[in-house]
Amino acid sequence: MLKVGDQLPAVTLYEYVPADGGECALGPDPVDTAKAAAGKTIALFGVPGAFTPGCSEQHLPGYLEHYDALKAAGADEIWCTSTNDAFVMGYWGKAQGVQGKIRMLADGDGALMQATGLKLDMTGKGFGVRSARYSALVRDGRIVTLNVEAQGEVNVSDAATMLAQLKANPKA
Ligand code: BEZ
Repeated sequence: MLKVGDQLPAVTLYEYVPADGGECALGPDPVDTAKAAAGKTIALFGVPGAFTPGCSEQHLPGYLEHYDALKAAGADEIWCTSTNDAFVMGYWGKAQGVQGKIRMLADGDGALMQATGLKLDMTGKGFGVRSARYSALVRDGRIVTLNVEAQGEVNVSDAATMLAQLKANPKA
């Protein structure tokens, strides 16, 4: 499994930004994680599923609530990933009002989940194998902190913990 000090695996995720007002929809566009993370400080969080209660009511809203503080503490970008397709992730972000603050990066092929080993097996409950719930502070592609949740919990991968970790690990 992924650990602190590792490079974020180089995989392709997909990003779709639905139309908003007069703007056109964008994508789905491939996002090469290695290229997209290069030179940046990223607050990454992974969730088991778009539109699920824990992710929609608690996990993602926390990152929106703490957006200004996360940016002020040095996050260049906030990424949310899940084992859903790009359209589902894009419309989930729109429903949540992410408005460009959080990049909704679809791991529809499970490539990041497989490469990191950050998996949650919910087979037999109608969910199959999904992304685990976690967060990671990623700096220039390297994992600085990694917070993996026990099933059903949002205790260590929340935005407040990420904010504390950004403050404790300032850019050199
Ligand atoms: C959740 O509430 O976050 C959740 C529920 C079922 C499956 C995965 C996640």
